[in-house]
Amino acid sequence: MPVITTIEDLRRIYVRRVPRMFYDYCESGSWTEQTFRDNISDFAEIRLRQRVAVDMEGRSTATRMVGQDVAMPVALAPVGLTGMQSADGEIKAARAAEKFGVPFTLSTMSICSIEDVAAHTTKPFWFQLYVMRDEEFVAGIIQRAKDARCSALVLTLDLQILGQRHKDLKNGLSAPPKMTIPTMLNLSTKWGWGLEMLGTKRRQFGNIVGHAKGVSDVSSLSDWTAEQFDPSLDWDKVRRLKEQWGGKLILKGILDAEDARRAADVGADAIVVSNHGGRQLDGALSSIRALPSIVRAVGDRVEIHVDGGIRSGQDVLKALALGAKGTYIGRAFVYGLGAMGEAGVTRALEMIHKELDTTMALCGRKSVETLDRGILLVPEDFEGKWA
Ligand SMILES: Cc1cc2nc3c(=O)[nH]c(=O)nc-3n(C[C@H](O)[C@H](O)[C@H](O)COP(=O)(O)O)c2cc1C
Repeated sequence: MPVITTIEDLRRIYVRRVPRMFYDYCESGSWTEQTFRDNISDFAEIRLRQRVAVDMEGRSTATRMVGQDVAMPVALAPVGLTGMQSADGEIKAARAAEKFGVPFTLSTMSICSIEDVAAHTTKPFWFQLYVMRDEEFVAGIIQRAKDARCSALVLTLDLQILGQRHKDLKNGLSAPPKMTIPTMLNLSTKWGWGLEMLGTKRRQFGNIVGHAKGVSDVSSLSDWTAEQFDPSLDWDKVRRLKEQWGGKLILKGILDAEDARRAADVGADAIVVSNHGGRQLDGALSSIRALPSIVRAVGDRVEIHVDGGIRSGQDVLKALALGAKGTYIGRAFVYGLGAMGEAGVTRALEMIHKELDTTMALCGRKSVETLDRGILLVPEDFEGKWA
């Protein structure tokens, strides 16, 4: 058993275990992947202030996200097709999150259904909604999330149309995979994954199949998205959905201060500063670079969360110090899941927690709630001078 000390270690195992179609799906950004790369590399531009002779006893990473207690402010982001990275992947990830004490967010485009995840967990999880043209389907899935006692709705606003990821088109991404010759050759080297997959019934989009009417072919993600996602989603609809849901609402995919103000006007409980992990508008700013202007614009009106490029507890700490109250990890938990199932997600959370705690201590702080810009060295031009 290799000694795993970083998220990158998990990624290496993940790439060996999971079929190419699915790790390409995870590892891609849109078009040139500039934003995907920037999300990670921009974190490295921020440095930390080492402080000494500060009493380190009794540290805590515990806090709250949208009023809910969390062991650390790191939620699992909604990730479509998680159940293709590892059999029953959403259930495994949700259980790891529950045991660790952090929120799990189930994607609309998950393989395990809302009901499946609810049946295999004991605490409420969060549900992420993509708005579809079919209003009956949307009303139905909101009701299903309420019935499953989901404790927040994460409404994604940055995917009315799908950003192009070249590899998915070239691989013919589908769930379950279509048996072309290249796919079969690749699957023949992934027997561990394949055996587990044969042992589960959950191999299709569990929230959609059997629930959405007149859906011809859900297996092809790009075709189905083009057909079903609602391109007319606007702030009025967001308001209506907020009423329909009636609970905690988190608006995901905000990257601009003006949009952040609109989100606060709507009365969202939180926003997620996000560019969908660099998978939608290529050329957009990295999330960490966009964060400070959004904190200035609405930090006093709405809780601000951020995701994109977080691969360590140090990244989490930098985001919190720049004003975020919560963070999410997408790929970092998928690597763990694909590498080692539920135990891999737990390992990813443990490493991030340890890095966050140790870094916080070495910066001279004892709780995540006391983190502020004072612990950072941020380049003067970090936000960029864009005309
Ligand atoms: C493979 C993959 C699938 C994703 N699917 C969804 C999704 O179904 N819904 C959603 O709102 N965001 C989705 N996202 C975006 C994530 O929620 C999150 O914003 C992003 O992964 C954060 O960046 P990171 O992966 O660098 O942590 C997906 C991201 C990845 C990598």
